[in-house]
Amino acid sequence: MILQASKLVAYIEGAKVLREVDLDIRAGETVALIGRNGAGKTSLLRGIMGTLPLAQGSLLYQGQSLAAREAHARAGLGIGFAPEERRLIGKFTVIENMMVPAWACKLSAQQIRERLDLIYSVAPELEQLNHRLGGLLSGGQQKMVALGRALMAGENLVLLDEPFQGLAPALALRYADSLKTLRARKPDLAVLITESNPKLLQPMADRIVTIERGEIISEESSQ
Ligand SMILES: Nc1ncnc2c1ncn2[C@@H]1O[C@H](COP(=O)(O)OP(=O)(O)O)[C@@H](O)[C@H]1O
Ligand SMILES: [Mg+2]
Repeated sequence: MILQASKLVAYIEGAKVLREVDLDIRAGETVALIGRNGAGKTSLLRGIMGTLPLAQGSLLYQGQSLAAREAHARAGLGIGFAPEERRLIGKFTVIENMMVPAWACKLSAQQIRERLDLIYSVAPELEQLNHRLGGLLSGGQQKMVALGRALMAGENLVLLDEPFQGLAPALALRYADSLKTLRARKPDLAVLITESNPKLLQPMADRIVTIERGEIISEESSQ
């Protein structure tokens, strides 16, 4: 098991945003986390990444507790995160943005080469955009860079927060294609993707987990 979350509880400004959330993710699995706006999807991803403190519960990554690992150390363990609002560094080029986790995780030149190789096979357009400034890209291009950056850190697990949100239909198809390529190129990678529309992720997810008001209300295999 790559990730085992059990009975996670978290608060934001006194409001309980995660209510005893259980979620297990195996290597190679694509899990869709579905829920309306405000349901707690981002809170759960932030809890996993360590940027939202957990009040209760246990969170194991490859069998080891993440509790003592600071947020910045979690990327170094092989967990990649593409946040909803992308958070690219506007004054950095595309390649510099993607290199930030490589520097933070102290990847070797060999590891960087392998991961860039994977990133460019998943999103070939990034190779052309490499020297453009992050701040000058379109929203759709920024989503691709955020995916690339997540893959630089995410050797074992990537968390993608509403990557389809706001993408025009053609770009959404393009992004879905990238995820398909990723699946084929890196079959052991565990992927957790959030979305508000359950239909969108059905074709690509092995499992659909639905969250409502901070609680997991259903979990079903999609095959
Ligand atoms: N920065 C914040 N300040 C106050 N409340 C917040 C903040 N971020 C999220 N919340 C609240 O936490 C709950 C869960 O939000 P969130 O995890 O962002 O949901 P989702 O990602 O599913 O839209 C919501 O009730 C939301 O209003
Ligand atoms: Mg969200």
